[in-house]
Amino acid sequence: MVSRVIPVDPFDLVIFGGTGDLARRKILPGLFRRFVAGQMPATARIIGAARTKLDSAGYRKMAAEAIEEFGGIGSASADTLKAFLDQVEYVAIDAKGKAGWADLQKLMQGTGKVEAYYFSVAPSLFGDLAERLQQWGMADKDARIVVEKPFGRDLVTAQALNATLATYFDEKQIYRIDHYLGKETVQNLMAVRFGNMLFEPLWNAQYVDHIQITVAETVGVGGRGEYYDRSGAMRDMVQNHLMQLLCLIAMEPPARFDPDAVRDEKLKVIRALDPVLPHHINRGQYDAEPGNEESHPNYRVAVGDPRSKTESFIALKTQISNWRWSGTPFYLRTGKRMSARSSEITVVFKETPHSIFAEDAGRHRNVLSIRLQPNEGITLGVTIKEPGPGGMRLIDVPLDMTFAEALGEDAEQVDAYERLIMDVIRGNQTLFMRGDEVEAAWAWTDPIIQGWETRGEVPKFYDSGTDGTTDSHELMRRDGREWRKVSP
Ligand code: BG6
Repeated sequence: MVSRVIPVDPFDLVIFGGTGDLARRKILPGLFRRFVAGQMPATARIIGAARTKLDSAGYRKMAAEAIEEFGGIGSASADTLKAFLDQVEYVAIDAKGKAGWADLQKLMQGTGKVEAYYFSVAPSLFGDLAERLQQWGMADKDARIVVEKPFGRDLVTAQALNATLATYFDEKQIYRIDHYLGKETVQNLMAVRFGNMLFEPLWNAQYVDHIQITVAETVGVGGRGEYYDRSGAMRDMVQNHLMQLLCLIAMEPPARFDPDAVRDEKLKVIRALDPVLPHHINRGQYDAEPGNEESHPNYRVAVGDPRSKTESFIALKTQISNWRWSGTPFYLRTGKRMSARSSEITVVFKETPHSIFAEDAGRHRNVLSIRLQPNEGITLGVTIKEPGPGGMRLIDVPLDMTFAEALGEDAEQVDAYERLIMDVIRGNQTLFMRGDEVEAAWAWTDPIIQGWETRGEVPKFYDSGTDGTTDSHELMRRDGREWRKVSP
């Protein structure tokens, strides 16, 4: 199956923070892959902008190295890379001062192309950049700005950021990235739910026993200790990525697949979320990996704070107080240094209301699991008769569809950032968070965090390479349920 590539309109994309980690790891390699795929028009320009004193030649060299290192290159030839780099330029700029702005203005003047400004910088600079863009006449009504998470660290700071950006740009010009929304399978959630008749009639409290969302990572906090220790799993993952997954799995069908219709429905889910009770939250911190204490130290060593109370793992139970989901628990968990890298949503259906089989045939539940990464696909557990003589005994077998197998090797692998940047150029906000959505997510998150701070709770330790704290398993057991095993 060969995927279709629809070229986008000519554009100029300015990457503030163009020499930073995200630009090197994701943005530049992703743009190169779009170039190779034939999606980037010949007149498009990528303009790196950062404080580092570099000229365009120096930046191109850095971009080439980043593309090589972070997997953009594939089987592309040196000529192809050179052709891409010919479209790359650089401006040394001071976000808070005057230096470089006249140069950037000159580059961006009267081009007639789509203008996009990627704020790949600390949120504390968002306001400065927005203000400078306006001062230098680059905040015209068709310009777009792209902002990264963290979008605030609580409701108040998110509101302040939204207000600052709103001073210079209209909501329609602001693209708040949650890269989970750019993942192929995350979008597939909507295709599976709203493109099939099969699931939707059963997608409610009457038929669904509970839903689990797990985003497990094997990595530790790595070199991001300082940022991470101020955030923790709740702010870093739950408030945004897991919240988005929860919205997509729980929302009502939007009338159309368009930005406001989809985001209106997601917002309703967030606003209907119940507060989380203290005994429905479980936080953990990873311990060192036995035998590998040097390379895989415990969390507190990794962040350089022997008394840190920040969680690297969290499991919680919540509910959505609306007609569709009333009484159905949603269990969320995410953590670092877990046993495998695996993101999965599991919908566990209720038992049949009555069994016609003998008691020893067992009672079974259908389980639909949607694997987001790796090994993307869907598995539906179906109950059948155990083969052979000896009466009617029931067993569960998986109806397994791994997308890579079903779609063939030609299915194009598009990284989340590639897709999202192309959506910015197309002017499609469906996969970006609206300001009110982000604020609603913080409004739910804040009291949870304040709660454990007020109670002075400290996360429990869990062994690296496990599925999190023992208490998180207890959270399920108390309800007569269990987490699905985290498996790659
Ligand atoms: C980021 C978080 O937003 O998402 C990281 O800040 C996390 O801590 C990452 O590791 C996970 O993304 P992915 O695409 O690897 O699942």
